[in-house]
Amino acid sequence: MDENHVLIFDTTLRDGEQVPGCKLNTPQKIEIAQQLEALGVDVIEAGFPISSPGDFNSVIEISKNITEPIVCGLSRGVKKDIEVAAEALKYAKRPRIHTGIGTSDYHIKHKFNSNRDNILQRAYDAVAYAKSFVEDVEFYAEDAGRTDNEYLARVCEAVIKAGATVLNIPDTTGYCLPDEYGAKIKYLADNVRGIENVIISAHCHNDLGLATANSIAAITNGARQIECTVNGIGERAGNTSLEEVAMIMKQHPRLNVTNNINSKLLNPISRLVAEKMGMMVQPNKAIVGSNAFAHSSGIHQDGVIKNRETYEIIDPIEVGVDESMIVLTARSGRAALAYRAHKVGHSLTKLELDKVYDVFLKHADMKKEILDDDIHQIIAEAV
Ligand code: KIV
Ligand code: ZN
Repeated sequence: MDENHVLIFDTTLRDGEQVPGCKLNTPQKIEIAQQLEALGVDVIEAGFPISSPGDFNSVIEISKNITEPIVCGLSRGVKKDIEVAAEALKYAKRPRIHTGIGTSDYHIKHKFNSNRDNILQRAYDAVAYAKSFVEDVEFYAEDAGRTDNEYLARVCEAVIKAGATVLNIPDTTGYCLPDEYGAKIKYLADNVRGIENVIISAHCHNDLGLATANSIAAITNGARQIECTVNGIGERAGNTSLEEVAMIMKQHPRLNVTNNINSKLLNPISRLVAEKMGMMVQPNKAIVGSNAFAHSSGIHQDGVIKNRETYEIIDPIEVGVDESMIVLTARSGRAALAYRAHKVGHSLTKLELDKVYDVFLKHADMKKEILDDDIHQIIAEAV
């Protein structure tokens, strides 16, 4: 693999689907998985097979319906989970078992009532067991964000010896700062024997709104797989947004990395996931929110009408949005009004525009937004 290529691991159907109220049935999951394949993701985490018969069945059906991406099933680091994941993945052309265990002292003490040496052994055993079913085994060190780096490095070294192909370093609680998370990835890259033979993966949660920033910090420090979800859905405040990391990589050549995402499909898949999960996207969401390319203040509108790049760093067509929107509100100026009037068939002279603008402001002060029908009415009233 090209050393500057970053793999996109989508977990919309696993970490994303864990969100209360977002449950999908198998046909819905297959439809989303097929669109993820079209989008160009490298890995689809299809589910957590032992968690329910429905999830088990979905992983089977997604495996049958997906050709190119790796299909991945989650398991805890216990034998039964791993066996069930392997069974669910038996039709996958490129199966991956994602297994692991909590490595922070919070998890070791409170979840497992155990100690570091015992957890390290369990991590090794889980990977070795998964490896007896599939070649491609990803190990997750749950709560790696709050795990002591030196111990984390020992765990990583052990699971590489057991056959792990990918090391997932989750910031499970979304606690890390970008420099801290980046430094953790670098520490592992510099100190774990054998790490050059595996892929380091970043899996960030958004509890402090830092999931995307942390993922980018991971890339600049050597991670070559990013785990993310469409619209950033996921437990609590969500996961890293697929559309954000993909576009950051594209917009910043300085990062010197590539990915396989067909960005023109980002908005269509965002709408599909929002609709199927019944989870609307916040209007101001980067890349895929309904306001991401909308301009409503006079100063911005005037600039965008003269040249889109004055206030837009992304061409909306690049992410599957037809055009930028000039929204008419009481904050809009004459340029925006003339622009929108022209779009609905009225070419106004300067004198006409002045008259129409006065009437427009009266209407706009009484409404949140002036729509096309209002424009016809306002012009009829004014001219
Ligand atoms: O956030 C997390 O730690 C996870 C793991 C199970 C991979 O989702
Ligand atoms: Zn997670």
